[in-house]
Amino acid sequence: MVKIAVMVSGGGTNLQALIDAETRGELINGELSAVISSDPDAYALERAKCAFIPGYVLRRRDFDSTESYGEALAEMLEQLDIGLVVLAGFMTVLSPAFCRRFEGRILNIHPSLIPSFCGPGFYGLHVHEAALAKGVKVTGATVHFVSEIVDGGAIVLQKAVGVQPGDTPETLQRRVMEQAEWQLLPRAVSLFCEGRLKLEGETVRILDRPGE
Ligand code: GAR
Repeated sequence: MVKIAVMVSGGGTNLQALIDAETRGELINGELSAVISSDPDAYALERAKCAFIPGYVLRRRDFDSTESYGEALAEMLEQLDIGLVVLAGFMTVLSPAFCRRFEGRILNIHPSLIPSFCGPGFYGLHVHEAALAKGVKVTGATVHFVSEIVDGGAIVLQKAVGVQPGDTPETLQRRVMEQAEWQLLPRAVSLFCEGRLKLEGETVRILDRPGE
């Protein structure tokens, strides 16, 4: 079994999608083992509690640098014997050293079709505001491996979602979550735990069977 830690900062609807997938037996060879929040008041911690998953809080402001935050996080993950780190609405940028230490073992969900509307400053509702300001007719979500470059790691899964006339950032965010994020994230996590994601340089190959 791959022990999974989910990193959160807010509402945790993507965490909930993972919990529901695990309940349905859809996280093959994976076990949600820890939820780590950057915010003690995040509703995601409530969701973890209801699902009997141990919750932890690690606040960025309790550390004087991104590096020391990354070191504390790495220690916690290693003590818990975590095999996969999932960033599910985690709003703190991780240090390059942390990203290197866990290379190939961190997945992130981003609410756009990367490489559109991503990188520093593009998070949460801002992503959908930017998509609407640009007038795109199609947007979506991406699950990717995390590298030292913000939103720059190898793409695992993507799904397109149509923009509708009269959309607000809020209505678009909700549709992208419902139609893309909540499906993609559990699927990508399961593929990882099944050993079916193969990193080949800048890209990911999805194997029909593990170890092919
Ligand atoms: C989600 O839309 C997620 O894709 C986004 O924040 C939201 C968190 O919602 N993440 C980013 O923008 C990361 N750059 P949730 O707490 O309900 O899962």
